[in-house]
Amino acid sequence: MVSVDISGTDPALRMDVIHPRWVRVTHWINAVAILMMITSGWRVYNASPLFPFLFPDSITIGGWLAGALLWHFAAMWVVVVNGIVYVTLGILTGRFRRKLLPIRPAEVVADIKAALSGNLSHDDLSAYNAVQRLLYLGVILAGAVVVASGLAIWKPVQLQELTMLFGDYEGARYVHFFAMAAIVGFLAIHIVMALLVPKSLRAMISGR
Ligand code: HEM
Repeated sequence: MVSVDISGTDPALRMDVIHPRWVRVTHWINAVAILMMITSGWRVYNASPLFPFLFPDSITIGGWLAGALLWHFAAMWVVVVNGIVYVTLGILTGRFRRKLLPIRPAEVVADIKAALSGNLSHDDLSAYNAVQRLLYLGVILAGAVVVASGLAIWKPVQLQELTMLFGDYEGARYVHFFAMAAIVGFLAIHIVMALLVPKSLRAMISGR
């Protein structure tokens, strides 16, 4: 007779939840909204560049400055509300403490060496290695900086104390740009890693 484990308690059949639903939902909402923010932000940058280069129009959205600003602000609300939900639950459920801490420099160096020599194990998806922990915590902090500097640029008069934190309006623009660059750098590594270890991508979709 075939037995079916409807209780989900048979250890042979049970697969532990690696990413609870709230992590997966906030992660994918964030991924779409951040891509909108980056590509519309590049269009806004092109209207008044800080450096002697422009982003190709073909990789931007919004069509023109005003259109890009509409996309940027629409996605900004999604990123901020979704980010507050993710960070609050990350702290309250203890996930950040369990999964992202501690970060020990010696472990980061050892894991980078292991990764470069192709010896970094991805067998246990339930625990992040030291480099992942550093990158995830880093991108969460970069997200906080990009939002704070963005608010400083958006309302430099009403939020002048915040703007002063970055020196001045121009300073806030540079910080905003470099925080964006850090997020794009993170994403380049993050997406390549997700494709190289497809089971990690499956876990971020199904949870298991
Ligand atoms: C198409 C884009 C993206 C893909 C394919 C992707 C894929 C993944 C995967 C597979 C994981 C799980 C990693 C593992 O279990 O080893 C993950 C986790 C994570 N991703 Fe992404 N991601 C994307 C976009 C983003 C963006 C835009 C951000 C932030 C700017 C981000 C931040 C994170 C963070 C912080 C985690 C850890 C979440 C936690 O455990 O609480 N991802 N991502």
